Amino acid sequence: MRGGGPATHPTKEHPMWQDISRLADAHADRAILGLFARDPGRFEAFSASADGLLFDYSKTNICTEVRAALLALCTAADLPGKRAAMFGGSKINETEGRAVLHTALRNLDGGPVTVDGQDVMPGVLATLDRMGQFAEAVRSGDYEGQGGRITDVINIGIGGSDLGPAMAEIALQPFADGPRCHFVSNVDGAHIHEALKGLDPETTLVIVASKTFTTIETMTNARTAWDWMAGKVREPGAQFAALSSNQEKTADWGIDTSRVFGFEDWVGGRYSMWGPIGLAVMIAIGPEAFRDFLRGGEAMDRHFQTAAPGQNLPVLLALTGIWHNQGLGHATRAVLPYEQRLARLPAYLQQMEMESNGKRVAMDGSDLPVHSGPVVWGEPGTNGQHAFYQLIHQGTRVVPCEFMVGIEGHEPELSHQHDLLIANCLAQSEALLRGRSLEEATAIMAAKGLEGAELDRQARHRVFPGNRPSTTLVYPKLTPFVLGQILALYEHRVFVEGVILGINSYDQWGVELGKELAVKLSPILSGQESTEGKDGSTAGLVAAIRAGRPG
Ligand code: F6P
Repeated sequence: MRGGGPATHPTKEHPMWQDISRLADAHADRAILGLFARDPGRFEAFSASADGLLFDYSKTNICTEVRAALLALCTAADLPGKRAAMFGGSKINETEGRAVLHTALRNLDGGPVTVDGQDVMPGVLATLDRMGQFAEAVRSGDYEGQGGRITDVINIGIGGSDLGPAMAEIALQPFADGPRCHFVSNVDGAHIHEALKGLDPETTLVIVASKTFTTIETMTNARTAWDWMAGKVREPGAQFAALSSNQEKTADWGIDTSRVFGFEDWVGGRYSMWGPIGLAVMIAIGPEAFRDFLRGGEAMDRHFQTAAPGQNLPVLLALTGIWHNQGLGHATRAVLPYEQRLARLPAYLQQMEMESNGKRVAMDGSDLPVHSGPVVWGEPGTNGQHAFYQLIHQGTRVVPCEFMVGIEGHEPELSHQHDLLIANCLAQSEALLRGRSLEEATAIMAAKGLEGAELDRQARHRVFPGNRPSTTLVYPKLTPFVLGQILALYEHRVFVEGVILGINSYDQWGVELGKELAVKLSPILSGQESTEGKDGSTAGLVAAIRAGRPG
């Protein structure tokens, strides 16, 4: 089935998915409000909390029976065994022969973690200490640029070597008291051009963040930054730091090993911000606040490992995802943080979820009997309300929404604005649930004086179908600890969904083909090679671009 996926409702035949399929058929259209009417304790029964986080999934049409069937999927997929294997350092990334141990990076209070019989924790903690010493030196001015104290840090990386630290640096602004941080990812020269504008090479630290140290975008931007610095600074390498698991390649750049922070291949790129890839964040907020972030992740790890499945936040978040996507067939989900400082969280989660669970074959190479993970997208509220919520409320497709909101903001003097923010968040999930019937819309328009056919026509435009599912995550206040909890919650959600789907969430072969073709297209674009063998569209586009170039 080239290019295709499972047909609609693919779950019917597969034994593991039969119950879900049957329940989805039976309950797809039932009224969520009816579930509340029948069970006054529904909110308590369909919400759970952990270390100050509250996860409410009562505004979905999951009932006790559906939840039991979803929990049975965890048992059928041996979630406890797979979870123990991940935390225990087994090579669960089977297509790359690697362990998956980003949890070790935040295992501050835990015991040994072994890979191939070796405890990795001494190395993890030593690197964390070295990062802390360097971050402190940059912040205090003990480490200087060739023109004095470091004023600006540029992190050059892409994907997992950019999205996490870039997102967290914005999220944790209230805690940022170090040099300014900038993030450059795109190979489009405009990105680095704009970032370098106004910076002084003599007081800028360049961090080259790349697990492989071969990613073409990052290496190209790093070279540009090096040349920029070499124009003014005698020894550019002295103002470069490298974050990578490829020590050979970092050595080729001549960066002093005191500023090279390594990590092992058992840290996946999109799970890497807990270690050296988080250096820019650590410089911005300081090592102690960075440790609080790690402690938040560690708290979620403990919860995930010990809480009963029905009270386990990552499990429940995953099961709502499975129900909405593989069960009811909703192909996308929106992540909607009511927190401006989480503006980049949807993009971060987009990579985490789509690169992890966007796979069409199971671990054993067989075709998935169900759809892969969903399209993940979003924007902070309330901005999204004035952009795309129209479709969420009245479009023909259902988009399950994942709201999140903090009880408190960081601006006590603007608490009235925070109240308005929370009111909007709750109002949106209420509106999605409740909708507005034709009778209600008709009454509203009749009160405005409309009658007859025009009343009917106008009223129909004002109907909200409602019964649209959402979940809400409530946290006390966006601190480093809470950010750590939220990110680890989503990481484990991805893990649970991946286990139920039976896929390898930790490779990313789907990014390779485009990379290979880009390398081959470069000499074709520059005219060194011909377009022979290319499809008509690609050849036509190359010809048009070449013809349109000046000179
Ligand atoms: O192309 C995808 C990818 O490999 C991501 O998985 C990764 O986060 C990103 O590229 C950057 O990779 P690196 O850190 O090796 O430069």
